[in-house]
Amino acid sequence: MLNFEFKNPTKIIFGKGEIAKLTKEIPADAKILMLYGGGSIKTNGVYDQVKAALKDFDIEEFGGIPANPEYEILLDALQVIKEKNITYLLAVGGGSVIDGTKFLSAAALYAGENKWEILTKPVRTNEGEGLPFATVLTLPATGSEMNSGYVVSRRATDEKLSSGGPGLFPQFSILDPEVIRSIPKKQIANGIADAYTHVLEQYMTYRTTATLQERFMESILQTLQEVAPQLMSEEFDYDAAANYMWCCTMALNGLISKGVVTDWAVHAMGHELTARFGIDHARTLAIIAPSHYRYNFDSKKEKLAQYAERAWHINEGSTAEKAEKGIQKLEEFFHSIGIKTQLSEYTTAYEGTAEKIEKTFTSRHWLGLGEHKKLSPQDVYKIVEMSY
Ligand code: NZQ
Ligand code: ZN
Repeated sequence: MLNFEFKNPTKIIFGKGEIAKLTKEIPADAKILMLYGGGSIKTNGVYDQVKAALKDFDIEEFGGIPANPEYEILLDALQVIKEKNITYLLAVGGGSVIDGTKFLSAAALYAGENKWEILTKPVRTNEGEGLPFATVLTLPATGSEMNSGYVVSRRATDEKLSSGGPGLFPQFSILDPEVIRSIPKKQIANGIADAYTHVLEQYMTYRTTATLQERFMESILQTLQEVAPQLMSEEFDYDAAANYMWCCTMALNGLISKGVVTDWAVHAMGHELTARFGIDHARTLAIIAPSHYRYNFDSKKEKLAQYAERAWHINEGSTAEKAEKGIQKLEEFFHSIGIKTQLSEYTTAYEGTAEKIEKTFTSRHWLGLGEHKKLSPQDVYKIVEMSY
């Protein structure tokens, strides 16, 4: 097991009706900016619950943060933060609203004139260097509610870049599984696929001696597999929703990656597909992951076989046979929740994509991706091409 340090300061308040606890968690003298997305919170009761809890607080609002939070729109919110002397941010939404809020937390106290350089350099935001913020999670998927990373898009330049730092953990996050009632099935499927792939990015490397970490990861994978059919059915099941929500948080709050090596190449390539085609984040991962595992079969086959054995109970065959079966099971799992796994199923304009991504990675000097830091832009070209 590798050496590690682990600190996660985010307080989690989990369960039915817990949004009301906002009242006692936010400092009474805070000047709050409540941030939200396209309006789902106005129709599902979340907005009303937040407003009721904060009725005696000094609060401004900024709505309209789109999926894959857009830099230009966030600059408008930054203007509000400055003009209204905001001291506390409250994100009410999914990963996009929370990520946008993290960017604002960093940008509000960043001295540089050009805020985009926070993402291009990128600038790490250390403790005390961001505006304090909290979240009310409405869509389990990204884990952003309990981690310190974020991703922002800039459509004018087809860029989608990430940044973060220890100063960007939410102070607290409220996770009420009841919010899942109103989420469209397409978004629930996205959430399952995103959290599932977060685990794979930290798991699908090589066999390690971090036994507890591997078991943690396998238990999240198995729990997501178990609750997926209940979540995709029409009937709302509170406990399935609660387990799904907690899996998503645990998949990317920093715990399971401790003591092991991680990959994250699937996300790096996936972000390019969102930037270029607007494909939902989770679906880009389902497009890339199977090709990534097939392309890197030799270095990953031991772990792929372990995945097949432990997550899918595939006990017959050689290591290579089990490993290939593991990839097939992964594809079947994505298909079972309605997620397609080839780029050509999302766009007809896929020709040339691999070449463009290769060039982008070369220009960014992203020359060694994956757990071995050996995947070159030419390898990326081949993986993306395999995913057509
Ligand atoms: O905007 P509204 O109207 O609220 O609708 C949203 C949005 O259209 C809707 N929604 C959210 N909660 C709902 C709901 N609809 C009904 N009922 C509810 N309770 O869902 C749509 C998608 O929301 P979004 O926040 O975009 O989804 P998600 O949580 O999947 O976030 C995706 C973003 O997070 C980034 C992705 O790249 C993407 O930009 N990620 C962030 C990570 C992190 N911070 O650690 C890691 C991830 O790998 C990921 O990259
Ligand atoms: Zn993700």
